[in-house]
Amino acid sequence: MAQRLKTVLNEIAADLSDSHDWGKVADYIPELAAVPKEQFAIAVITKDGQCHSAGSAQVRFSAQSITKVFTLAIALGRSGDQLWQRVDREPSGDAFNSIVQLEQENGHPRNPFVNAGAIVTTDEVLAGRAPKDALAEILGFIRTAAEDDDIHINKSVAKSETEHGHRNFALAHFLASCGNLKNPPDMTLGTYFHHCAIELTVTQLAKAGRFLIGPGVGPKMVSPERVRRLNALMMTCGHYDGSGDFAYRVGLPAKSGVGGGILAIVPGQASIAVWSPGLDQNGNSKLGTEAMQRLAHAMNWSVF
Ligand code: DON
Repeated sequence: MAQRLKTVLNEIAADLSDSHDWGKVADYIPELAAVPKEQFAIAVITKDGQCHSAGSAQVRFSAQSITKVFTLAIALGRSGDQLWQRVDREPSGDAFNSIVQLEQENGHPRNPFVNAGAIVTTDEVLAGRAPKDALAEILGFIRTAAEDDDIHINKSVAKSETEHGHRNFALAHFLASCGNLKNPPDMTLGTYFHHCAIELTVTQLAKAGRFLIGPGVGPKMVSPERVRRLNALMMTCGHYDGSGDFAYRVGLPAKSGVGGGILAIVPGQASIAVWSPGLDQNGNSKLGTEAMQRLAHAMNWSVF
């Protein structure tokens, strides 16, 4: 399999580098708007720990919403099923930063991956602590999962998002008005913006996802039952309004971020990370999705 994987990854990277349409970088966070879009990287780590990559696999990118998988794992570890009294587990069929659905549903976010649900999840992780302590736990979790301490928060990205995060402030204050925020909005959002600003390479991200492959793979981070549930949420909600299309085209549980990264899991087999900063109309990496589709097809990887 190793040789086949290497060949397929190199072919995908070579083909996609010739693309005419790279999508559009996220422009509502100025630091991300400045990232050149014609970049591509992919890495796969198999259950036995072998790593294969192609493209710009040593370039760090902003993980953004992909960090929501890790904060969810931590929140469930801290407060168990209590989180589900504050957040639902249904696909939203709306944009990741939609405000209208939150009001219609009385401040109860659809799922932990849309921004409103992720803000509540971060609020649960914060739990009255200083933001720097919660961030140390989140960063520590990701570093342990990746078995790599060289993973950091990009403070300029966090600052850039804080200065332009009017929608997230609106969501947090609305959650607070409904009694669904335990900490002051500024503290929860400060923690949220900083964990979204964690940067890593595709190799580090694929490694960080290893614990989601299944029992006995990678560092033991959460129970096998919770691993299945995290994968279920990634499958149904991980690409927001594009989750159905991603399931149809790729057939794997995955989480995207507006930095252009995608983490996908082949249960029992492998963890895959891809990065290309240009996005599609749903805020998911355009060429990243294409690469995942080609890789899953070539390797015959699907949960279906
Ligand atoms: O809250 C935001 O808007 C960003 N920090 C994260 C959004 C994101 O990555 C959505 N994913 N496609």
